[in-house]
Amino acid sequence: MEIFSNPTQHEIKKAAKALKDGHLVAFPTETVYGLGADATNENAVAHIYSAKGRPTDHPLIVHISSINQLDKWTIDVPRYAIELAREFWPGPMTLILKRSELAKDFITGGQDNVGLRVPDQSVALNLLNEFEELGGFGIAAPSANRFGAVSPTTSESVEQELGSFLQIEDLILDGGQSEVGVESSIIDCTKDSPILLRPGAITSDMIENITGLKVQFNQNKNEIRASGLLESHYSPKAKVVIDETAEPGEGFIALANIPTPTGVIRLASPENIEEYARVLYGALRAGDQKGLKKIKIIQPKGDGLALAIRDRSGKAASGKGSV
Ligand code: TXA
Ligand code: MG
Repeated sequence: MEIFSNPTQHEIKKAAKALKDGHLVAFPTETVYGLGADATNENAVAHIYSAKGRPTDHPLIVHISSINQLDKWTIDVPRYAIELAREFWPGPMTLILKRSELAKDFITGGQDNVGLRVPDQSVALNLLNEFEELGGFGIAAPSANRFGAVSPTTSESVEQELGSFLQIEDLILDGGQSEVGVESSIIDCTKDSPILLRPGAITSDMIENITGLKVQFNQNKNEIRASGLLESHYSPKAKVVIDETAEPGEGFIALANIPTPTGVIRLASPENIEEYARVLYGALRAGDQKGLKKIKIIQPKGDGLALAIRDRSGKAASGKGSV
């Protein structure tokens, strides 16, 4: 496995070729790093599952270079989904749509729908364009972490997570720290109105403003394929506890205006909600690197991105990771 830091055009072409040849390429996106494979190559996709240690009935998001590729992967796209795609792509939003013939069971976990996203990150878009130049249709990419662990927001974290599970021809592209820091909002667009399956930077208010439709929230807590609701036991090795005062020797994550209790190890002091999302996963990793037993998180209030932070930190605390 080779790592290309701030990859040149030549290196991105090499990575696109590696994908076309059936190898894996981890790449930056604005949300978190993804572990990519040719979404039409069953063997390559099987390698994603084995590198992650992820059960094969969990569907993958297909990344495409623009809204123009949507028709290849989908049928019967409702008007509100087009409105969302026009407004928020490239961006931190995944749409679940009825699949075309191109989206095989090995991508969708046997479901009749497929998840699609156009990432807003220059290395990712460049890679997608080069891949399409070579005749590719889309890059399947889950977050580049082992099943149930914290998503990586830097190439170093990808290497720590997956380095020993990648093969010699596989690649990691480094594009700096992910700007958003939590995974994309996932919106089920297979019904008459949008259903928010996983909260992220594209919020229910934003969706309602664009579509004029009321957003519903996923109610079925037992639906394992619905994103982020999975019963996987996860994540930092440290035990995560929400909204309790930290004791000496414990890790602590909270907004900057909340003071650090005496003897507590401050892992992050974000000034605002956007920064909170960006640093959360790195702070959890830092806690593990310091060998901490417990990390206390004071959750931010409010909606929007704060909802996504509470969703992820709540899962970290309950041992249910987003995979
Ligand atoms: O921000 C992101 O979405 C990142 C970057 C790399 O794009 N990707 C990501 O992928 O978070 P992953 O696989 O770690 O999480 C995607 C979630 C999983 O829980 C999966 O089960 C769900 O989305 N998912 C994918 N396709 C789906 C589908 N057709 N129906 C329902 N859930 C789906
Ligand atoms: Mg994931």
